[in-house]
Formats: sequence, structure tokens, C-alpha cells
Amino acid sequence: MKDAKSFFGIDLPIIQAPMAGVQLSALAIAVSNAGGLGSLPCAMLNAESLRKELDAVKARTSKPYNVNFFCHTPPQPDAAREAAWRKRLGAFYKEFGIDADKIPAGPGRAPFDAAMAEVLAEFKPKVVSFHFGLPSTGIIERLKAMGAKILSSATTVEEARWLEAHGADAVIAQGLEAGGHRGIFLSDDLTTQLGTFALVPQVVKAVKIPVIAAGGIADAKGVAAVLSMGAIAAQVGTSYLLCPEATTSAVHRAALKSNAVEHTVLTNLFTGRPARGMVNRVIREVGAMSADAPEFPLATSAIAPLRQKAEAAGSGEFSPLWSGQNASGCREIGAAEMTRALAGRA
Ligand SMILES: Cc1cc2nc3c(=O)[nH]c(=O)nc-3n(C[C@H](O)[C@H](O)[C@H](O)COP(=O)(O)O)c2cc1C
Repeated sequence: MKDAKSFFGIDLPIIQAPMAGVQLSALAIAVSNAGGLGSLPCAMLNAESLRKELDAVKARTSKPYNVNFFCHTPPQPDAAREAAWRKRLGAFYKEFGIDADKIPAGPGRAPFDAAMAEVLAEFKPKVVSFHFGLPSTGIIERLKAMGAKILSSATTVEEARWLEAHGADAVIAQGLEAGGHRGIFLSDDLTTQLGTFALVPQVVKAVKIPVIAAGGIADAKGVAAVLSMGAIAAQVGTSYLLCPEATTSAVHRAALKSNAVEHTVLTNLFTGRPARGMVNRVIREVGAMSADAPEFPLATSAIAPLRQKAEAAGSGEFSPLWSGQNASGCREIGAAEMTRALAGRA
């Protein structure tokens, strides 16, 4: 029977969830040094910034850490859909004095690629995790040859089986409560998505590789519950968002400390893929899921200037305020203390 110690070489069964946009290496270093598995999210980094962050990790911890990537297939831009989306947001552009024709198109989030693999070869992280499936078998073999364990998120039993069959060493069962992007990758049918309590035991039964539970886990009792269901560790995201080592924005922190955190929803407005965040004005007025939103990650660019203008005025009404359903664990304490508390060692 594997456990977090024998599988990852960590003392506490806690993985700090990689959270692109709200953290860099400081959070990962603090968690790894505390005995958990810190994670560096790389979806919004390029090869140069990845190297900089990994240099910082190497300088400040000798413990295992996880490096996380998205691995979606970049879509073909669709001019008609982009135009429809910008039209849909037109009233907001007018309100904020934004010229829609001058908004640059941008990729938003990049998938794992050869340049990233080169950088990883220099640092040889012990764990590499993916969201939205897995890269090609060749790349997986290359990462394994460097000594990395490969993880990816599954949101259904079918996805967990697929990941096992395609080379994952462990699977992260991501329940519907989870904050941020759904890892769903075999279909886009959100009616298949299960809560953590339903998903974890089914995945444990379905695969032979170790299972990590994610979604709605916010205290030591939650961690103990998923371990009792057969998971070897809990992957926790939302609870770390108020830690000083996270780079969570001021508007995001304020929302997490307000009643807004009681209202979360899956929305595709900010990137094109469903992700759980707090309800704000743009979600209320456009609707949480829009068929007009361009495919992931192309939806990111049209909403970016609205976010910028609103945040400059101290408002999070156009920002992706990612949060899971269970924000009861959010506290303004150091990430080391948070990690120990989650493991019941505080
Ligand atoms: C702000 C935020 C950003 C996230 N970004 C990523 C990411 O970059 N990569 C990833 O694999 N998962 C990401 N996730 C999902 C987490 O890996 C994990 O599934 C989730 O945080 C667990 O649920 P919880 O938030 O209820 O603890 C993110 C979650 C949050 C809250």
C-alpha cells in the first residue's frame, strides 16, 4: 500500500495545489519546506520565467516539489466567434471607454512544450503534474527518464482509467467543489462531474495507481476523510489563497474575506473553459457559461482590459475570482502553518 511518504518522499500527505495566476515559487517553497508537496504552476510562464522560478526553488529547498502544466491543444482562432464575443461585451467596453478594435489577441495560457521540457531537464523535478490530460507518450517517457513522477487530474472514473492507461503514475481525482479550472478533458459534458466524496472512492476502485483527492478539502478532518477513502494525499488549493506567500490580488483577497465567497459557479467567461469562481457582475450580466466565449484559452484576451480597468478602480467585478465551494479554510497565516494545520499537526 503506497502512502505520500513512500510515493513522493514527503512527510505530510498534503499537496499544495498549483494555482496559475495567484502564486509563484514562494508558496511552493514554503509548503515543501514544511513537509508537504509544494507546486509551481507554469501555465502562465514562459521558458525564461520558468527557469527563474526553478532557480529560486533550488536555492531555497532541497525537498521534493511539483511542477504543473496545462496540456490543451491550442485551438484555431475563429474570427467570427471572437467578433461575436467582443460584441457581447460591447456595452462594458463602452462603459469603460475601451476601444474593442485595439484589444490585442493573446494566447493567455500556453500548453507544455519542448522549450519547457528543456528547462525541466536542467532541474529534474521529482513530480510533474498536468491539467487537461497528458502530453504525448514521447514527452512522458522523457520526463520519466529524468526521474519525474507524472500526475494528472481526472474528473470522472473514465478519465482516471484513461490517465492510467496513458502513463500517469498517479491520478488527482478532482471533485466538482474544486476552485479554478475543471480538469475535464475527455468530453465537455459538465453533467458528468462528481463531487469529491462521490468521485474519490470510485476512482480508487477503478485504477491501480495511487489516487490524490482534490476539491473542497479545507481542514484536517477533510484530509483524514479522503485518506480513509483510499487517497494517499489531499491536494488543497483554495485554503492557501490568503497566505502571504500567494500573489492573490487585492480584489481577490477582499472577495475571499467577504460574503461573495458563499456564491461560486462554473464559468467559461474568463478563459473559455469551465472554472469555479465567485459570482461577480460580468457573470451576473452575461451568464456564467456563454456559447459565444472563444475556445480556451482564447477567451482570455477580450476580458483582460475590462479586468484591468475595474481592478485599477478597486473592483473585482470583471476578474476571475477563482475559489472552491469550501473557502472555510482560508486564513491569513503562513503556508507552512497552513500545511501543518491541514495535516493535523498544528
Ligand atoms: C486560484 C486557483 C487556480 C488554479 N490553477 C490551477 C492550475 O494552474 N493548474 C492545476 O492543475 N490546477 C489548478 N487549480 C485547481 C487545483 O489544482 C485543485 O483542483 C483545486 O484547487 C482543489 O480544490 P479546492 O480549491 O477546493 O482546494 C486552481 C485552483 C484555484 C483555486
